[in-house]
Amino acid sequence: MDFKCLSCIVFFPIHIVYYILKASVYLLLPSRRRTLIKEVVLITGGGRGIGRHLAQEFAKQGAKKVILWGRTEKCLKETCEEISQFGTECHYFLCDVANREDVYKQAKVVREKVGDVTILVNNAAVVHGKSLMDSDDDCLLKSQHINTMGQFWTTKAFLPRMLELQHGHVVCINSILSQSPIPGAIDYCTSKASSLAFMESLTLGLLDCPGVGCTTVLPFHTNTEMFQGMRVRFPALFPPLKPETVAERTVDAVRTNTAYVYMPWTMHALVILKSFMPQAALEEIHKFSGSYTCMNTFKGRT
Ligand SMILES: NC(=O)c1ccc[n+]([C@@H]2O[C@H](COP(=O)([O-])OP(=O)(O)OC[C@H]3O[C@@H](n4cnc5c(N)ncnc54)[C@H](OP(=O)(O)O)[C@@H]3O)[C@@H](O)[C@H]2O)c1
Repeated sequence: MDFKCLSCIVFFPIHIVYYILKASVYLLLPSRRRTLIKEVVLITGGGRGIGRHLAQEFAKQGAKKVILWGRTEKCLKETCEEISQFGTECHYFLCDVANREDVYKQAKVVREKVGDVTILVNNAAVVHGKSLMDSDDDCLLKSQHINTMGQFWTTKAFLPRMLELQHGHVVCINSILSQSPIPGAIDYCTSKASSLAFMESLTLGLLDCPGVGCTTVLPFHTNTEMFQGMRVRFPALFPPLKPETVAERTVDAVRTNTAYVYMPWTMHALVILKSFMPQAALEEIHKFSGSYTCMNTFKGRT
């Protein structure tokens, strides 16, 4: 074994401990936040729900331009007008992220009309909200195309220029259901798990790319129309998050270059428990919390 290899082995645990200590200290200290003054932010599904709050928060925090993508013109237009009132330049374009050709076409239009996107927020998603056997095949495919494949196309469209500029950030609004799936949302949980793998692979793949970072946000149930009707057993113990809180935390994570955000932070415990608990104990937790049956009352967007 040569000297270089030996020093690698010796320093490896020291490095790991160093990074853990550094992250713990940074948790306690106020971290440096980068300015968004030169950033051009594109948000998929920016017309409503968390996307709309993200657009407002990026504008509030000083982003130079905000671009909204979605399929419903009315919502996009309303949000765009709101953002413009903050004094931030805002544009919207109709784009179905499930449609690869549409994504590439609209990305070209954005580059020509607005400029280079430096922060891409993959937020658009749908939930079908039925069990596997009750689900229509086309609906199952649709959620995979929007929630997972949409990210492939948007990232392929905008990341190359970020790499050229050595400046950019890719954000994914994922879900805690990617790590702790529930019955009755099999399409959604599968798409979010695969979207998490996409982000984990991308984040590691960009390690040697200076100036380009990633953030994955994994929120718990959030108060938008997406999961309307879903009922948890102890709402006082597990209240839904406010979409504005998810937006604030997301923008802050971009500004501090944080790779993963669990919301609320107690969701870390769920992931840790899952890694070693016997299945019977996990099932008890699901039954006790009501997550086992919470989709029985699901109505979704009406
Ligand atoms: N709500 C929750 O409990 C919760 C919890 C954890 C994570 N999340 C995640 O947060 C993100 C936002 O969800 P939300 O709660 O804000 O849901 P929402 O209110 O239903 O908003 C979803 C957004 O996605 C857009 N969208 C859907 N299909 C699209 C497509 N094919 N192309 C382009 N845009 C599309 C919708 O706009 P159009 O219909 O106009 O296209 C809408 O703006 C999602 O990724 C979701 O998985 C939500």
